[in-house]
Amino acid sequence: MPPYMTMGQVPPKRHTEFRSEDGKLYREEVFGTEGFEGVESILYHHHPPTEVNELLGSRGVAPEPWEPEQHRHHHLRCGKIGGGGDAIDARRVVLFNDEVRLAMVVPDQPMERFFRNGGADELWFVREGEGYLDTVFGEVYYREGDYVHVPRGTTYRFRDATGHKFYLIESSDPIHIPHEFTNRWGQLLEGAPYSERDLHGPKDLITRDEEGAFELDVKIDDHISTYELDNHPFDVVGWDGYNYPFTFNISDYEPITGKIHQPPPAHITFETDSFEIISWVPRKVDYHPDAIPAPYYHSNIDTDEVIFYIGGEFSSREGISDASLTLHRRGLHHGPQPGRYEGSIGIEEVEETSVMIEADSPFQTTEHARQVDEDEYMFSWKE
Ligand SMILES: [Fe+2]
Repeated sequence: MPPYMTMGQVPPKRHTEFRSEDGKLYREEVFGTEGFEGVESILYHHHPPTEVNELLGSRGVAPEPWEPEQHRHHHLRCGKIGGGGDAIDARRVVLFNDEVRLAMVVPDQPMERFFRNGGADELWFVREGEGYLDTVFGEVYYREGDYVHVPRGTTYRFRDATGHKFYLIESSDPIHIPHEFTNRWGQLLEGAPYSERDLHGPKDLITRDEEGAFELDVKIDDHISTYELDNHPFDVVGWDGYNYPFTFNISDYEPITGKIHQPPPAHITFETDSFEIISWVPRKVDYHPDAIPAPYYHSNIDTDEVIFYIGGEFSSREGISDASLTLHRRGLHHGPQPGRYEGSIGIEEVEETSVMIEADSPFQTTEHARQVDEDEYMFSWKE
């Protein structure tokens, strides 16, 4: 979890009377993501967050599965996937399983409605763009290279993400900071690859005590339902706690390097009960005089491995383009492509930036994946 944070006004004692200067009683909300035993925040609203004016219907957003002809590796040239819609409708899911969905998002319209993912944490990776995510906790500034962690249940609206490019990881299991990074009191360890200073919560809380007709989309699993509210959902005067959206820039990741090749778990950044998120960033590589810095050949027996390529020169891979994504399937070998294994001997640093997902459950591909699937990829290791 990120560190304790407080913004705006909160009463000295929780669950007690808290009023505005003119005597109006604020409405307290306890916002936890794992019952009453997980991390939580407490927010104070001008109006009860339960007030709904009208039900405006629901729409299905289930990904359309695509069954490839047989089990094989994939290289998806996701830069070719068309955008379209706001930051909610522009989600193009390419891979999914029961716990996680991976999507490309390139909005071409601003969001009109507010949005809340009621069933999943969202981790947005900003490929291109800079702006603000307005949330019930305040405005969250983001820039290229940021992971933007949005806990489930957070009401938000991108201020204007038109033309920005994102990878979106949507997880039904909570996404958290690995437990091994923290001491028994919850502080990030001296040996962790980032510190509390690298995590950035909301910058400013702007309270909107406004009446009107505000539409809110709430996503649960494969459906988005729309509600009309009488009051602006960002009517919070203050909050505190540990559960709030924050950003972490991949360039702030401090890679652990070694005498010989360090495997993916050495680069873990966030985790869930069903997959890990790993950051590969520019770094000095192995200093054993005979080291082979490129990864060895391997087959992931228990996991499907996805890599989003962000930038730089990739030490083990040829033919990577804008927004390439590879899926290395369990039970099949993968590793450095021709020339890259021996070619890595003697190098001192690599310039690559990528994000890897190691998932326990197999991924299903979708129609969006089919359209940009490079069917020759399986043969790309032939010498
Ligand atoms: Fe691998």
